[in-house]
Amino acid sequence: MEDVDGPSGRHVEASSPRQGLGFRVTTMSTHISAAHGEIAERILLPGDPLRAKWVAENYLEQVHQYTSVRNMFGFTGLYKGERISVQGTGMGLPSLSIYVTELFNDYGVQSAIRIGTCGGLLEKTKVGDVILAMTASTDSNINRRFTNGLDFAPHADFKLLLAAHEASKHLPNVHVGGVSSMDYFYDETDAAQKLIQHGVLGVEMEASQLYSIAARKQRRALAILTVSDHVITHESMDSISREQSLNTMVEIALAALLNG
Ligand code: HPA
Repeated sequence: MEDVDGPSGRHVEASSPRQGLGFRVTTMSTHISAAHGEIAERILLPGDPLRAKWVAENYLEQVHQYTSVRNMFGFTGLYKGERISVQGTGMGLPSLSIYVTELFNDYGVQSAIRIGTCGGLLEKTKVGDVILAMTASTDSNINRRFTNGLDFAPHADFKLLLAAHEASKHLPNVHVGGVSSMDYFYDETDAAQKLIQHGVLGVEMEASQLYSIAARKQRRALAILTVSDHVITHESMDSISREQSLNTMVEIALAALLNG
């Protein structure tokens, strides 16, 4: 075992070098067991680790799994000849913040696109639609620790958003606007009504932290979300439209990662 400093300056213990992968010095972060260099600078971030596996199997070539710590899988492969990774982040702002912080600090990830689901709020955000999240407000207190109580406005990287918009503008059911990343899935308050008054398109549980951490670390981020159910009408997706809209979302995200 060899001790090294990670790119964040944090002291990490190196694991034994992996054979046959072309890596000499190996560093591991606390929750991702990848060697330094195993994760691409551009990454897709589904919440569900099995979705990460599905994306790797269906869209990437020469796939290599770099982590399975806590079954939060991560893969690197080639998409149209370019190195892309895909990493599960779990549910909720704290879980995503762990993975994204390690990806930025310890593995040098530069551009990250969350691919996830959200609950639709407005009449126009129908089940099966896709949302490009321009902003992500939150009811979480997590950012205020960094801003002395000031409400920072978490927003997507403009170039990634523009590239995602370019890739999807021919599609009828893609919306661009604000979402809100909530601490509760089973919310028993009237928060949804307040968000609707502000024209928020949908609710999910991660994007705001992705945008905030990216801002602090000067990295680029975007969230692309499929409306999996509707908060007001309680409609939800059947399995066929779930798969179709998942494909649409992943294809928009990959195009944005390559072109944004
Ligand atoms: N909240 C409500 N509905 C949802 C969510 C959420 O976070 N994600 C998908 N549907």
